[in-house]
Amino acid sequence: MNTLVLSAEDKNKESAYELLKNGEIVAIPTETVYGLAANGLNVSAVKKIFEAKGRPQDNPLILHISSIDMLKEIAAYIPPIALRLADTFWPGPLTMIFPKRAVIPSETCGGLDTVAVRMPNNRFTLSLIEKCGFPLAAPSANTSGLPSPTAAKHVYEDMKGKIPLIIDGGECKFGVESTVITFENDERLRILRPGGVTAEMLREYANVVIDDGVLMKIDPDIKVLSPGMKYKHYSPKADVFILNGSTENIIAFLSDRDSSLKIAYLGYGNESLGGNIITVPYGETSEEQAEHLFSGLRMCDELECDEVYVRMPEKKGMGLAVYNRLLRSAGFRVIEL
Ligand code: TXA
Ligand code: MG
Repeated sequence: MNTLVLSAEDKNKESAYELLKNGEIVAIPTETVYGLAANGLNVSAVKKIFEAKGRPQDNPLILHISSIDMLKEIAAYIPPIALRLADTFWPGPLTMIFPKRAVIPSETCGGLDTVAVRMPNNRFTLSLIEKCGFPLAAPSANTSGLPSPTAAKHVYEDMKGKIPLIIDGGECKFGVESTVITFENDERLRILRPGGVTAEMLREYANVVIDDGVLMKIDPDIKVLSPGMKYKHYSPKADVFILNGSTENIIAFLSDRDSSLKIAYLGYGNESLGGNIITVPYGETSEEQAEHLFSGLRMCDELECDEVYVRMPEKKGMGLAVYNRLLRSAGFRVIEL
């Protein structure tokens, strides 16, 4: 299959729409990461997503909508708190889980009786969904297990020959996927995956519990609230490690590494390293780190690094999302210095 790349301009909306209407997959830009989109109400279209990504069948997809009316068509019950959050954070990086209506095929939701929904904050994508009139199921547009794509060229690397069209909307603003929440009651919600709408922001509206799966390794036999938690994720080919310590100790540790290895370091930017260590852009603030994490990890593979060391992010605000992704790319290996 030939994979076409078109810019996110109005004139290209029709091409994307035609493919989606006919049950094909189109990669779309969002403010978080690129998504691999298809008609979420069409079983054969949804199956193509799982196939292109090599995604386990039990890992449910997020439905992307363009209006609250569309939410009402797919969610069997919408708690009042969800409407308040939608009012504040949609369109934006917040995914909410609802009991599903029968119109959504079980394949879309990995066999669960709930559905994850979000309204993405991207002008082209919102108007494409509106034109389609059906919700777009869209997981991140990477091959399962690899870092999520934050630029159209990353999608092309993973999906070339597997999908007919990629819409190039430039680099994604947030760089990590949306916050995923579920409602425990009308006052309490649980964060299953941290993202751009932070725990601190959500606490203004409800009591917030952060699920253990966010920062802890999950036993493969345990039933988790969000199937995505238990899979290996976001990993480049190189071995990734997290470093927790002072700049001084990090420099000492890295300069002691085997000089025959190709080593990459993602630091805050104030460390000066020499020798065989390649420094890869990461950032000082949590927002910068989120934006650069996945593209940095992909760059390490391009440079054919053997080992990648990443400086520990902060565990609050957007930093919690960075740390959650990083723990998974590093297989939970943290080196205390
Ligand atoms: O920012 C994002 O959310 C991006 C863009 C494309 O919108 N999408 C994304 O999708 O990250 P994906 O499939 O890579 O991650 C969806 C996560 C998975 O961890 C999945 O297990 C969880 O959401 N999820 C989906 N439906 C769920 C449900 N009904 N209950 C619990 N978890 C669910
Ligand atoms: Mg993903």
